[in-house]
Amino acid sequence: MAVLSRKLTIAIAALATLGEAAPWIPKNTPWHQQHTTGKAIYFITNEAENAVVALPIKRDGSLAAGKSTKTGGAGEVMIQAATGNPQHPDGLASQSSLTIVGNTIFAVNPGSNTVSMLAIDPKDPLCLTVVGKPVAVPGEFPNTVAASAKNNLVCVATTGAVAGVSCASFSHRGIEPMDKLRPFDIGQSTPPKGPINTVSQTLFSSDETKLLTMVKGDPTSNKTGYVSVFDIERQWRRPSTLATRGVRSSPNGTAVLFGTSSIPGRPNSYFASDASFGAAVISLDHKGVATTAHRQVIEGQKATCWATVSTASHSAFVADVGRDLLVEMSLSDASIIKEYDLSANGDPGLIDLASAGSFVYALSPGNGTTGAAVTVLDVSGGKGRAKQAQRFSVAGLASSSAQGMAVLL
Ligand SMILES: *[C@@H]1O[C@H](CO)[C@@H](O)[C@H](O)[C@H]1NC(C)=O
Ligand SMILES: *[C@@H]1O[C@H](CO)[C@@H](O)[C@H](O)[C@H]1NC(C)=O
Ligand SMILES: *[C@@H]1O[C@H](CO)[C@@H](O)[C@H](O)[C@H]1NC(C)=O
Repeated sequence: MAVLSRKLTIAIAALATLGEAAPWIPKNTPWHQQHTTGKAIYFITNEAENAVVALPIKRDGSLAAGKSTKTGGAGEVMIQAATGNPQHPDGLASQSSLTIVGNTIFAVNPGSNTVSMLAIDPKDPLCLTVVGKPVAVPGEFPNTVAASAKNNLVCVATTGAVAGVSCASFSHRGIEPMDKLRPFDIGQSTPPKGPINTVSQTLFSSDETKLLTMVKGDPTSNKTGYVSVFDIERQWRRPSTLATRGVRSSPNGTAVLFGTSSIPGRPNSYFASDASFGAAVISLDHKGVATTAHRQVIEGQKATCWATVSTASHSAFVADVGRDLLVEMSLSDASIIKEYDLSANGDPGLIDLASAGSFVYALSPGNGTTGAAVTVLDVSGGKGRAKQAQRFSVAGLASSSAQGMAVLL
């Protein structure tokens, strides 16, 4: 019986994989090579003249030389509270400083309090065109953005002296004016003094009915971080909007929630890193209240801040700005599957990262001495079998203020 059901499972898995295969893949290609490879990766320079850097992904998942397109807005980095110096790397202390829906990129401009929309040429993913003018956000120091195709809605969170979240409709013509800020009472300055006590990431729930925003606490002053959740209000023949009243909750055992990713196939579960200990699996109830289902400490971690879920390896990967290491973790209980020591690359640590097909792309902005680079991990071998495929220098295009990571599939 057990053998039979295992055979069935394998058969069903094989069928599912066949369905996913791209048409150009020869029939005899092993299943693990059949995941769609991304077309290009994108991140922001976050320099005074902010720009989106685009790098093409080759058929084998590796990166090649790319180019940069100005957003029309300004970048800025936060102040490191401990030293009073500009924070390099990790100047925004956020995940998702740019995001992609369809062939559209949205990118924050922290230094000019705006958000830019850029159209990707469907024939050339490196060719970006700014659509309209950058749109003002009603807050200070925007550091994270989420967009929903289902709702034609883009939402931006700010983490300066005026912190909170606001949204606007978008179309091919550009972004409409942003609506009124739903404030976050974090008591920050502009630029903020981080990295703790700032906004981490805003993201839509997997069914795009809610907007989640992760807000870091400050364990040194007994301030608990929280997950802010607002419903999306959909009305017949009217644009979707974000509710004006939301709920906030602090999942038990978390303090500095950071990069978060929804878990495919489990609509109310999220994989979230927490810079104070490691990572957690978080559940949202129907009211939008978050609780911790599983919590995992990563020994020796410095600041585990970014998380991505790979559908190829069915696992999560988290990055630490203070260690050149990626940790693979279980989507069921956040337990550690494997730690990949990448220190031979010489990068001081990794920040924002994204999964596409059988690969994970992780940005190291460097620190001025070591230049910016992207590490490519091949996860096609399945759980616990990732291998570094490439370390691609982007020193000519970006420096230690670079932030964000988005992939065009
Ligand atoms: C921290 O906050 C908790 C909950 O409000 C309280 O019980 C505790 O006494 C506080 N500790 C300090 C050191 O302020
Ligand atoms: C958090 O609280 C929930 C609900 O009370 C409980 O089921 C879960 O085990 C707790 N998680 C941790 C990590 O303490
Ligand atoms: C930059 O990072 C490299 C690699 O970790 C390290 O050797 C170097 O000392 C760092 N430089 C600065 C200025 O922190």
